[in-house]
Amino acid sequence: MALEAIVAVYADWGIGWHGTQPVVLKADRRHFREITGADAVLVGRRTLEDFPGAKPLPGRHNIVVTHQDIAIEGARVVHTTEEALAAAAEQGRCLVIGGATVYDQFFPYVERVYVTKIDITPHSDRYFKNLDASPDWVCTEKGPWQEEAGVAYCFCVYERKK
Ligand SMILES: NC(=O)c1ccc[n+]([C@@H]2O[C@H](COP(=O)([O-])OP(=O)(O)OC[C@H]3O[C@@H](n4cnc5c(N)ncnc54)[C@H](OP(=O)(O)O)[C@@H]3O)[C@@H](O)[C@H]2O)c1
Repeated sequence: MALEAIVAVYADWGIGWHGTQPVVLKADRRHFREITGADAVLVGRRTLEDFPGAKPLPGRHNIVVTHQDIAIEGARVVHTTEEALAAAAEQGRCLVIGGATVYDQFFPYVERVYVTKIDITPHSDRYFKNLDASPDWVCTEKGPWQEEAGVAYCFCVYERKK
């Protein structure tokens, strides 16, 4: 089962603080919508709570991972890594969209990561693996540095080395 992932990282590969993203760029939100399209997304329960209205993303097949026995309207709820992988395998394409514990657990199955680099270092308590420091990953696409509200960012793609 090959998955993809998408993440926005700060300069220290931090991704979040206190259950949310301390700095959010509109351009990154647009990029996220373009990349995920109408495909399936795999998301942790805590990240779901940070979505608008704590609701699943519209127009996509949402697979939510939780240990809790809950139903979430508009989402398929799964309770284990294995169940999540089986649900993802039923979809044509599935992107892991966080947060940190979900990225970590499904990382062995991820072959491509869409990384938005945001060149600022707010305090984070959640991190993504630093792919620049990993011998197993290579940056295959790096867009130009752009700027929004005085913050520099660029869109990159990393692939697991064969
Ligand atoms: N920068 C970015 O691109 C980005 C993207 C996404 C999220 N984030 C940030 O990441 C942070 C959230 O990450 P997080 O690590 O705290 O939480 P998370 O990964 O979003 O969710 C963790 C929860 O998922 C459930 N879970 C995880 N693995 C499971 C498994 N194998 N089986 C069953 N349930 C499982 C558990 O839910 P239960 O507690 O209900 O059992 C767990 O508490 C936030 O700050 C958010 O803003 C950043």
